[in-house]
Amino acid sequence: MKTKLPSTPSRLKKFMGEVGKTEESLVEMMMILIRTLEERDSYTRGHSERVGHLAYLIGQEMGFPKIQLEKLRRGGMLHDIGKIGITDELLYKPGTFSQDERARMNQHPEKGHLIVVNCHLLWDLIPMIRNHHENFDGSGYPDGLKGEIIPIEVRIVSLSDYFDALVTARPYKEPYSKEKSLAFVKSMTGIKFDPAVINVFLKIVDAYYDQNIKPIL
Ligand SMILES: [Fe+2]
Ligand SMILES: [Fe+2]
Repeated sequence: MKTKLPSTPSRLKKFMGEVGKTEESLVEMMMILIRTLEERDSYTRGHSERVGHLAYLIGQEMGFPKIQLEKLRRGGMLHDIGKIGITDELLYKPGTFSQDERARMNQHPEKGHLIVVNCHLLWDLIPMIRNHHENFDGSGYPDGLKGEIIPIEVRIVSLSDYFDALVTARPYKEPYSKEKSLAFVKSMTGIKFDPAVINVFLKIVDAYYDQNIKPIL
């Protein structure tokens, strides 16, 4: 006797249910990774989510479709996941790094790449994890990518990451004021950051800062 195939709507419903569960599991797995990182590095508590949120807002202002916005949010959230592989001595060091310490700290984007590479559901986030310390003029790391060769999502996450690091406390510095941080970011236009991304960022930064930064200082 032939097995009766389910009708198309019920097959579709089952498929959608599976997609929903995969999506749910993916978000849960991402949250576990982020919480693991934040347990290790209390200074970055909240950093991952703020970077994801700021990157999302910049993408939204640029008119990105929803799927790309979600990718930006997730990439922003996971960008520093490789710091799980950095020793406490380096993560909590209050002063400046020696050349060797800097080189070891600068391995975190590649470590992050290695952490997520075995999960194909996270593959589209790899550029934002591996390349968030590239500079627009090509002087960044680990690959020395330059200009528009750096994917637009990466250029957005890179600026979001840097701005958040400026306006919040780190083991090596007090939080900078909004004005000082903006002056610094602007001085890096075309050097560290894409001028087009800076322009959009400047349109939304006041609202973002008032809602997300002030209360946590
Ligand atoms: Fe980083
Ligand atoms: Fe970061």
